[in-house]
Amino acid sequence: MTETLLAIESSCDDTGASVITDAQIVSNVVSSQLDHRDLGGVVPELASRKHMEAIGWVVNEAVSKAGIKKEDLNAIAFTRGPGLMGSLLVGVSFAKSLAQALSIPIIEVNHMEAHILSHFIDEPVPAFPFLCLTVSGGHTQIVQVDGYNKMKVLGHTLDDAAGEAFDKAGKIMGLPYPAGPHIDRLAQKGNAIFPLPHPKVKDFHFSFSGLKTAFLYFLQKQVKDDPAFIEKNKNDIAASLQSTIVDILLKELIKASHHTGIKEIAIAGGVSANSELRKQLIAISSNHEWRVYIPKLEYCVDNAAMIAQAAWFKYKEKEFAPFNITADPRLRV
Ligand code: KG4
Ligand code: ZN
Repeated sequence: MTETLLAIESSCDDTGASVITDAQIVSNVVSSQLDHRDLGGVVPELASRKHMEAIGWVVNEAVSKAGIKKEDLNAIAFTRGPGLMGSLLVGVSFAKSLAQALSIPIIEVNHMEAHILSHFIDEPVPAFPFLCLTVSGGHTQIVQVDGYNKMKVLGHTLDDAAGEAFDKAGKIMGLPYPAGPHIDRLAQKGNAIFPLPHPKVKDFHFSFSGLKTAFLYFLQKQVKDDPAFIEKNKNDIAASLQSTIVDILLKELIKASHHTGIKEIAIAGGVSANSELRKQLIAISSNHEWRVYIPKLEYCVDNAAMIAQAAWFKYKEKEFAPFNITADPRLRV
């Protein structure tokens, strides 16, 4: 008998639904909200409203693409947190209501753990224990993964996340939100010629707010002398910023690998789509005898396939959530 789960993701500004059958992802639908692009960041209330508009058809499409009926589902999974409260509530409530109507259990999933477990969607999969640099718009962590359900945060950011550093610096440059992909694109045509500071923090931890301020002061000073400085140098500015962020991330990852002796190394989350991070990780892997695991681009951004994959491991252990469960915007790994 086949076993099938539906998973729903609605933590930030992407509404996702995915179906997993017998450990295989059979559909993965994402509707990204483009409404925040010109607003400089995700507007929480707008995000919740857009989730409400999208969730019905996104779920229907995931079910129909999987070639199943809702009555075939064995359980429904949802992102419980971390994320925006209003956004999470839409997914949690939808999942609970549908599961009640179908009289099937529900499974709660931690969004950040799911980013990490997205490495189990396709071969090759990392062996336990592995280290995962989890870098998104809201988080920057080095996680030691000892099992599907056994993770320990070795280091985290003390202020801004890496994605936030890209987005805030990009905003200073006049780029639309989210700026990360734009900086990546510009940097490919530039050179990292402008020196930017590396923060001094405890081992395995990160800090990006000082870099953002230094970047702002640097540009303000240059623009004073030449108002067209940013426009003329945007590729080199982007390359300098990107290379500094990637350097900071990889330095701590190297330290964590030396400290733990772990050489299975993965990256996950939105910023793991960054081409320089991917390139540098591969470039340094042989120096450290690392086996590196880089997710497919479709699994770097927020998606429900990773929620389905994480839920599958819980389903096998019959780890179901009670029906009075609520969203938790600050849920930790
Ligand atoms: O994981 P994600 O899709 O959403 C969160 O859970 O936060 O990550 C979004 C973040 C944004 O900050 C975005 O700018 C960044 O990932 N990002 C990138 C790239 N693609 C997305 N940052 C740098 N380079 C990229 N190619
Ligand atoms: Zn995410």
